[in-house]
Amino acid sequence: MNELVKGKKVLITGASSGIGQYIAIHTAMQGGVPILVARSTDKLRIIAEKIEESFSIECPWYTADLSMDAEWKDVIDQICYDHGSIDALVNNAGMAVFDLVEQAKWKDIERMVAVNVTSLFRSTHQLLPHFLQKGEGHIVNIASQAGKMATPKSSVYAATKHAVLGFTNALRMEVEQKGVFVTSVNLGPVQTNFFEQADPAGTYQKAVEQMMLDPNHVARTVVDHLFTKCREINMPAWMNAGSKLYALSPGTIEKVMKKQFEKK
Ligand SMILES: NC(=O)c1ccc[n+]([C@@H]2O[C@H](COP(=O)([O-])OP(=O)(O)OC[C@H]3O[C@@H](n4cnc5c(N)ncnc54)[C@H](OP(=O)(O)O)[C@@H]3O)[C@@H](O)[C@H]2O)c1
Repeated sequence: MNELVKGKKVLITGASSGIGQYIAIHTAMQGGVPILVARSTDKLRIIAEKIEESFSIECPWYTADLSMDAEWKDVIDQICYDHGSIDALVNNAGMAVFDLVEQAKWKDIERMVAVNVTSLFRSTHQLLPHFLQKGEGHIVNIASQAGKMATPKSSVYAATKHAVLGFTNALRMEVEQKGVFVTSVNLGPVQTNFFEQADPAGTYQKAVEQMMLDPNHVARTVVDHLFTKCREINMPAWMNAGSKLYALSPGTIEKVMKKQFEKK
């Protein structure tokens, strides 16, 4: 049991699958109350029941399509009404469709922006006043190493994660004297259902399968940092070292890494 997490209400988006599902489980394991959000009613129900049985706690869940701003706004209002004060917000929901810009479908571009960016701005904007009023809270934004280093076929996805990182970095500075922690989580490839939509042919997945992170390990690391002052969680470390080199000399890295960057 983690004393910092015990009894805390943690709102987790994208909790029906992958990293979000494991963040919910680890939150409960550490004595917190995970509040789950996603679209898939059946998956949410099963995960919530499993958590309730395993940890003898209540695990509320809400269905919302985060690409629909008005719907998401109403669900956040409902969650605040039902639970009073929320202690942490984990903006985890996200999706990608890997494509060349010239071949991308506009509806996929719109959905990536709506789910990965607008919905994260919405939940943060709506919950931040509560955190500031209490003088405490934690906002964790699941970004990506793609938010530091863009590669072909992920222009829109990388742009959404660059947006998340920019937003997170500015927000952290705005609230750091006000008791609210803000953390970005920048991940390389993680073994989840994410690729079913991002890379249906499985080409990229096959190319990177040896280096895939375990979502359970990622989630445990995130929950271990809840309610602590942590700027960024970067995984794996070697990929983050690559992102640092890229920031120093993007042109050179693009040349040297051309083959690796074209694995999508
Ligand atoms: N997997 C990776 O390699 C990787 C790497 C770096 C960063 N990330 C980031 O990690 C986060 C979690 O992804 P994951 O790998 O765990 O993928 P995942 O297994 O596909 O889970 C994505 C979650 O987001 C939810 N979601 C997607 N669209 C939604 C919508 N319109 N409304 C509400 N919820 C929605 C899904 O729930 P429903 O389908 O039930 O709605 C699901 O719970 C994402 O932000 C992703 O960008 C992933």
